[in-house]
Amino acid sequence: MASVASPVARGVPPIRAGQGHSFLLRRLHSLSGIIPIGAFLLEHFISNAFATNGPRAYADQVKFLTGLPFVPILETVGIYIPLLYHALYGFYIWFRGESNVSDYPWAGNFMYAAQRWTGGIAFIYIAWHTYTMRFSGIHLLTNSQAAFHKVQMELQSPWAGAFYVIGITAASWHFAYGIYLFCAKWGITVSETSRKWMGRVCLVLALTLITIGWVTMAAFFKPQWKNIPEKLPPEQSVERSVH
Ligand code: HEM
Repeated sequence: MASVASPVARGVPPIRAGQGHSFLLRRLHSLSGIIPIGAFLLEHFISNAFATNGPRAYADQVKFLTGLPFVPILETVGIYIPLLYHALYGFYIWFRGESNVSDYPWAGNFMYAAQRWTGGIAFIYIAWHTYTMRFSGIHLLTNSQAAFHKVQMELQSPWAGAFYVIGITAASWHFAYGIYLFCAKWGITVSETSRKWMGRVCLVLALTLITIGWVTMAAFFKPQWKNIPEKLPPEQSVERSVH
């Protein structure tokens, strides 16, 4: 029997106009994953990596961030609202299985499912992480010195540690593959070759972010920084313990 050519091109189709109000909402969902949420994720990984330079370097970084003007407005407009929109619309896309999504020729494949599951895991993790770090316990906005201690205390529980590893990994993977999806949907990568290369770049990014996240976590377990108190001791004693 003669084979019939598939009417649907292979790969991720661009978001097209003429899909009703969902065109704008989907574009917003897609864009919000990169700016501001993805940009914030990168900043967050870099800022936290200062923990690898020790408790004081970490405290200084937290002090810088919490000392920025209009922090609550920056958080609300730049993080909470976009993240909430992206997450809620993400769950809507996932559970409703909109027709244009379920038409994807790759709907059953692993990457498609992984993008949904990593988003869901990241959502639970981010909600818990934000609650424990920002809205309960020692208030870091007014006590940046206690940052290393607070994270260290949190990681005392193996359950919390495991949850951090899973959450960091899920968010890294979701963001990196999200860049691949974004480039395909916005017409940045059109040819098979460009998508293949973008796939490799995103894989390297995912592995880099996961590594940075895990190495950062490991800093809180270093023997020379064991039991860091809420109030840091005078500069010299901490710095000396680094070497
Ligand atoms: C760490 C926070 C997050 C970042 C940085 C992020 C980033 C991204 C990016 C860049 C994309 C690609 C955009 C596109 O499809 O064009 C994306 C897609 C997606 N995100 Fe997120 N996201 C985050 C959290 C979440 C959460 C909490 C959910 C909730 C389930 C979610 C659900 C989704 C879904 C379902 C897609 C795929 C959309 C599609 O295939 O049409 N994301 N994300």
